[in-house]
Amino acid sequence: MGLDIGTTKVCVIVAEPDEEGEVHITGMGTSPSTGVRRGVVVDLDGTTRAIEDAVEAAERMAGVKIAGVVLGVSGEHIASQNSRGVVAVSRGDHEIGESDVSRVVEAARMAAIPASDREIIHLLPRDFVVDGQDGVKNPVGMYGTRLEVDAHIVTGASTFLANLLKCVQRAGVEAEELVLEPLASGEAVLSQAERELGVALVDIGGGTSSLGLFLGGGLCHAAVLPIGGHHITSDIAVGLRTPIVEAEKLKIRHGCATAAMAAEGETIEVVPIGTREARILPRRVLAEIIEPRLSEIFAMIKTQLRRSGYAPLLPAGVVATGGTALLRGIADAATEQLDLPARVGVPEVSGSMADVVGSPIYATGVGLILHAARKRPTGRAAHHLDGTGTLFGRIRQWVREFTQGG
Ligand SMILES: Nc1ncnc2c1ncn2[C@@H]1O[C@H](COP(=O)(O)OP(=O)(O)OP(=O)(O)O)[C@@H](O)[C@H]1O
Ligand SMILES: [Mg+2]
Repeated sequence: MGLDIGTTKVCVIVAEPDEEGEVHITGMGTSPSTGVRRGVVVDLDGTTRAIEDAVEAAERMAGVKIAGVVLGVSGEHIASQNSRGVVAVSRGDHEIGESDVSRVVEAARMAAIPASDREIIHLLPRDFVVDGQDGVKNPVGMYGTRLEVDAHIVTGASTFLANLLKCVQRAGVEAEELVLEPLASGEAVLSQAERELGVALVDIGGGTSSLGLFLGGGLCHAAVLPIGGHHITSDIAVGLRTPIVEAEKLKIRHGCATAAMAAEGETIEVVPIGTREARILPRRVLAEIIEPRLSEIFAMIKTQLRRSGYAPLLPAGVVATGGTALLRGIADAATEQLDLPARVGVPEVSGSMADVVGSPIYATGVGLILHAARKRPTGRAAHHLDGTGTLFGRIRQWVREFTQGG
């Protein structure tokens, strides 16, 4: 089961694997999220209730009881860095064993010890180097004297993670694994070829835009920006002097990414705040409000891409997910502003609920399940070694001390 606690919606997706390990989506539940700002929990009670509602709806639909979930993590506090570990191969005959791999990954972790107020969410080995030869995916059984690993480490602020876990716990479900949201979204919509070649996953949700860069098959950079589709909606509300609910409807029904996309003569009906009577306005007026805010979002993404140093290494371009990816013309606008080919990413899955979750809005939720289900050889090693055990141990301890100590 995947649990995505977003800024606009809490979403639970239920899946069942078949004998071949193929995932079938059998249930889904969503509820409006009121206690989350920019990807971070700000209201424990509101978020707990939203989780309970979404879990209940998903359970009803799938006809199962949900006990454990794979939990998505997001928010501006997320940081990521590369780290390298080096060890001497322990065995006399220089055959590399599992223990050497554990030691070298541990060395990479030690080389990047996070500040005391941060926790490691992922430690993902990307590439092993045996006696200077890089590009080794699985070194176990090979001969060598020196083993190195290039790992990618994702960290988050302990307190924010603890608050998130507290809500989940209070809603009566157990978080079995934490997964960075853009990593999950990427799992749902990117092909292996794109991930090998170099690709940017951009999830533009309601309160955040998150970025995951993939190269050589794995994640190499991640960041979460505190801006999203909700900013577009509030601009529309202010610009057209209409309530937020009306602005949201206008955006979804008539919105488009650029003013040039709105044809001459097209009109929209706007109900101004405090009145009942609709005004007729050119659709272009709406597009002229959306365009600059979307440009701002893309400009922030572009700055992140440049800062990451990976901008020239993304031949597979940009894949957009999240609700805002449904905005008409967004792929063209992304191509134009980011100078990269772009497409909208839609999760492709099977099962009775497959068509419902086949939308960029559910990329994160579906990806959480796929991330946990796909047992790639290196993925398993990563999972085994990525320290989530200690993460949960420490954060749970922390939550307990907090709740008992007042
Ligand atoms: N057809 C559409 N056109 C434009 N925007 C849309 C459309 N459908 C949904 N949105 C926008 O998508 C946003 C919600 O997206 P999503 O469900 O991915 O966010 P979230 O996961 O709750 O939030 P976040 O990931 O930022 O925490 C809202 O701002 C909504 O207005
Ligand atoms: Mg989201």
